[in-house]
Amino acid sequence: MLLPLLVCAGASALLSSAESKNKQFCTWTCAIFTLQWPGAFCQSLDNTSLCKLPPEVNGWLIHGLWPQKTQTCCECWPMFASDVQEVRGTLEEKWPSLLKSRSSFVFWKDEWRKHGTCAACVEGLNSPLQYFQMCLKLRQRFDLQKALEDAGIKPSCQRLYKLAEVQEALFPLTGSKIEIQCIKDDQEREVWFQVKIQLSRNMSLGCDHFGDTNDIRSDRRRFWGHPCPAGEGLYYVPIDHQRPLRPCG
Ligand SMILES: *[C@@H]1O[C@H](CO)[C@@H](O)[C@H](O)[C@H]1NC(C)=O
Ligand SMILES: *[C@@H]1O[C@H](CO)[C@@H](O)[C@H](O)[C@H]1NC(C)=O
Repeated sequence: MLLPLLVCAGASALLSSAESKNKQFCTWTCAIFTLQWPGAFCQSLDNTSLCKLPPEVNGWLIHGLWPQKTQTCCECWPMFASDVQEVRGTLEEKWPSLLKSRSSFVFWKDEWRKHGTCAACVEGLNSPLQYFQMCLKLRQRFDLQKALEDAGIKPSCQRLYKLAEVQEALFPLTGSKIEIQCIKDDQEREVWFQVKIQLSRNMSLGCDHFGDTNDIRSDRRRFWGHPCPAGEGLYYVPIDHQRPLRPCG
């Protein structure tokens, strides 16, 4: 635990005093917790031959926990496989990489470097293990599938759901400050693939100074969805391990 702090201190000592005066640390007040529906993941890619759907994947997956408006973060805190060894099995199940080209560990490491190191100035998030444990706890807390099932919303190729119906089903669990995101499949249908949940620094629901959703950082542009349009209805497609690219033909 000491080593990264020393490395950080060393790095900031190298900054000129003018530079360091402009640096503001630990400014974030809001974070976005993003869950992804693996049934639609492959269709969110430009090149659908790049995705994989591991056999154990059968529900909503973690995409990330992203503090917003972070300004300066300590990017000099490396993460190693041994840091998350004790939660590795659960991470493989709830937060696997769905890209063929990227191992799950590389995915986690990237998320830690881009987002975790920014979150880490807050108690309870201040190490790779704590950050990933928090994300797993949030995944448990936000059991979307159960809330949806309770409301009779199940994956289907036939049923077109209304956005309001989905919002109402999730409201008791997530409140109203969420973004339900869709992508368009190759038949121009709106397909639900992600939910972004706003959290305060203490992980309570919602936050006051959320700002513009355009701030949301993402790994790659192609991962970006758009808010599901209220007027059109959306498909909540099944997870199809045999046909991950075209679960609905
Ligand atoms: C998709 O990715 C595969 C594998 O990397 C590649 O061979 C193929 O040319 C790509 N297709 C397109 C349309 O970019
Ligand atoms: C969590 O933070 C929010 C926003 O700052 C605050 O309103 C709320 O009271 C805090 N909740 C707890 C349990 O500390």
